Formats: sequence, C-alpha cells, structure tokens
Amino acid sequence: MQGKDFDIRISTKHRVRFTRNAFVPENRLLIDLLETNGHAKVIAFIDSGVAEAFPNLEGQVNDYLERMPGFISKGTVVQAGGEACKGNTDTLKAAWDTIEQAGIDRHSYIICIGGGAYLDVIGLAAATAHRGIRLVRFPTTALSQDDSGVGVKNGINAYGKKNFLGTFAVPHAVVNDFSFLHGQPETDRRAGIVEAVKVALVKDAAFFHWIEDHCDQLTKLQPHTLEETVERSALLHAAHIAYGGDPFENGNSRPLDFGHWAAHKLEQLTDFKLSHAEAVGIGMALDTAYSWKTGRLSEEPAMRILKVLKKLQLPTWHASLEQKCANGTREVFNGLEEFREHLGGELTVLLLRDIGKGEDVHAMDKNLLDECIDWLATQATLPVKS
Ligand SMILES: NC(=O)c1ccc[n+]([C@@H]2O[C@H](COP(=O)([O-])OP(=O)(O)OC[C@H]3O[C@@H](n4cnc5c(N)ncnc54)[C@H](O)[C@@H]3O)[C@@H](O)[C@H]2O)c1
Ligand SMILES: [Zn+2]
Repeated sequence: MQGKDFDIRISTKHRVRFTRNAFVPENRLLIDLLETNGHAKVIAFIDSGVAEAFPNLEGQVNDYLERMPGFISKGTVVQAGGEACKGNTDTLKAAWDTIEQAGIDRHSYIICIGGGAYLDVIGLAAATAHRGIRLVRFPTTALSQDDSGVGVKNGINAYGKKNFLGTFAVPHAVVNDFSFLHGQPETDRRAGIVEAVKVALVKDAAFFHWIEDHCDQLTKLQPHTLEETVERSALLHAAHIAYGGDPFENGNSRPLDFGHWAAHKLEQLTDFKLSHAEAVGIGMALDTAYSWKTGRLSEEPAMRILKVLKKLQLPTWHASLEQKCANGTREVFNGLEEFREHLGGELTVLLLRDIGKGEDVHAMDKNLLDECIDWLATQATLPVKS
C-alpha cells in the first residue's frame, strides 16, 4: 500500500475593526469590508435584545443594506438572543431556513448583530449552510466585544454541555461598534469586563495594572475607559488566536480559558442563572486562590486579583459551589473532566505563577480546591478595601 501527504496551506485574514454607528449612511466601514461580483446578497440577523434596546436599528440596517452598491439586500431578521438561543436547535434551524429561503450562497454575506450567545448560533448556521458563508460579526455586549466576538468559534449547548456542537470558522470580519456597547444594561456591561481581566492576567501584566488603576472609572462604566479596555482586550484575544500557534485548539493548552473549567460547570449547575461573565469571575477567583494555595502565586498578587474582581462587582463565590454529588464530592469538580473531554487528551488547566504569567497543570487536588472554596466563601461578603 502506498500513499502521499499533501500540504494544504490556508492563510486567513482575521479582520477586527472598531467604529461607532456603523449603520449611519456616512459610515463606509462595512461597505469597504465586503466584496461583490455585482450580485452578492447580504442579510442581517439581529438579536432581539439589541433590536429592543435600539428601536431604530432594524430600519437603519435595512436602509444601509439597500444602499450598498453592487449588493442585493435580503433585509433583516430579528430573533431572540441570550443563552436560551443556544439551548436547543430552534434558533439555528430558523436561521438555516431563512438562509435557504433568501437564496444566500457562498458569494453572499451574513451579518450578525448580537451578544455572544446569538453570535455563536448564527456563526454555526453560517459556517454550516453551503459549507460556509462569509460572516461579519457585530458583537454588542462588553463580553462579546472584548472576547467571544473576536474569536473563531461558534456553537450551541447540547447533551447538557456547553458548546457541545459547533465549529471553528474565522469570520470574514468582526466590527466592534461602541455605540452598541453603551446600550447594554449596566450590570451585564460591567460583568463583561471580566474577560479583559482574564486576558490581562494570562498575557499582559501591564494591562492588568492599568485595569487596576482604572477600576473606579470602569465600575462607573466611564465610556472612554470601557472602550479602551474592550479594545485592548479584543486585540490581545485576536493576537493570541492569530499568533499563539493553535488557532483551532488542537493542542491541550487553553490559556484564554483561565477560570473556565469551573465557570462552564457553574453556568450549567445554575441552569444559566449565573451568566457566563459572572461564572468566569467565580472560576477565576477559584483558580487564583488555588494558584496561591499551591504556592505558585504569592499572596500579594492573589489578593490584588480578588480585589479587582470584587471592585468590578463580580461574584467570587456562589452557593452552587456547595452542590454535592451522591458520593459527597462537589458537582463543580465534574467540570474538570468535562473541560478535559471537550478537547480530549490530557487535562490541562492554566494556573497563575504571577500576574501576566500562566502555567499549565495536569491535575488539581480536590481537597485543596475544597479549602479554596471554603476560603472564598469567607471572603465573599467582606467589603472591598480601597
Ligand atoms: N465563541 C466563543 O469563543 C465564546 C467565548 C466566550 C463566550 N462565549 C459565549 O458567549 C455567551 C455570552 O455572551 P454575552 O455575555 O454577550 O451575553 P448574551 O449573548 O447571552 O446576551 C445577554 C443578553 O443581552 C442582550 N443584549 C445583547 N447586546 C445588547 C445590547 N447592546 N443592549 C441591550 N441588550 C443586549 C441579549 O439579547 C441577551 O438577552 C455565552 O454563551 C458564552 O458561552 C463564546
Ligand atoms: Zn469566557
């Protein structure tokens, strides 16, 4: 038997842009990002939460698409977003139906305007219809602008597991339009900063110190500071994906998932009453405490990290951490195996050696994790010292 290996080399551009009011007639950013053969179709999928927060949006987007020279507008579709849209295949199926009925083909573009959950579903619909239609993502929440929206993953939850079904697909472009960001409800907007804290902790100590220095402005959601945070975080995430050596997560190491083994499990244990952002706050507090209690991270940076999380009004403990399995171990610990299983291979969890410096470990001591959770419980209600 004989065979041969062929090298298929694919180089893809990951375009990340920042703007304001992308759909006013004079903003050409979107038009300039798209190419047409004279009859490319374009359709926009809009998260209903965004459509409600911006009542003129649908009309504005429709007008914009109509005016795009050389494109055929297929109008807008509004669907309910939020975690529920990832919970079954209804939204995905409805999106496929729309794509089919509108005759969207591989020369067309899908535009998706929404939070991280809705982007995940429409990203999956776009990646699978006709084996992949070009997608322009407009993330509209702090979390999706500073993290998920600039990523290359999509998915829905299935079999009781987060993101069980999905693909890796580099979007044609990501446009972070800050005018959407400032319309998100305050608590959620503040919580979404958590992914910026995360990427700073694993990649960029100077950025963490900057966040620390600007905590008061961030807590008040001072627009300029929030935008700078989102922009720095988005660029760090995109740079990691492009230059980190493993854009499609074939290896075991997942530095951008610091704190996420517990977070994903807590979201599921609380039936998504804890948002992804809140759960990541708790997961990062736990892995920070564990990094400290195992002697990797000294006490001073560990306390600084917890202080930043608390100042940003993120939870650092939750009652669901106490939920036990029949054998008496905490339910959240099953998150470790599910985290491993998602990639396969060896369990690999990132802990901190210092701010901005991570270390992969391949096992976690459950007794010590118990201690960390007990300790976090005692800290949760203490006021934050300024
Ligand atoms: N694909 C990835 O790489 C990746 C990475 C991290 C997180 N995620 C996923 O992202 C999801 C969380 O996303 P999220 O935090 O953006 O929340 P979300 O998408 O669940 O949105 C929360 C709510 O806000 C509404 N909304 C969105 N933008 C708004 C705006 N500008 N104004 C008012 N309301 C608005 C939505 O309709 C929804 O009801 C989770 O499912 C998580 O797993 C994906
Ligand atoms: Zn996350």
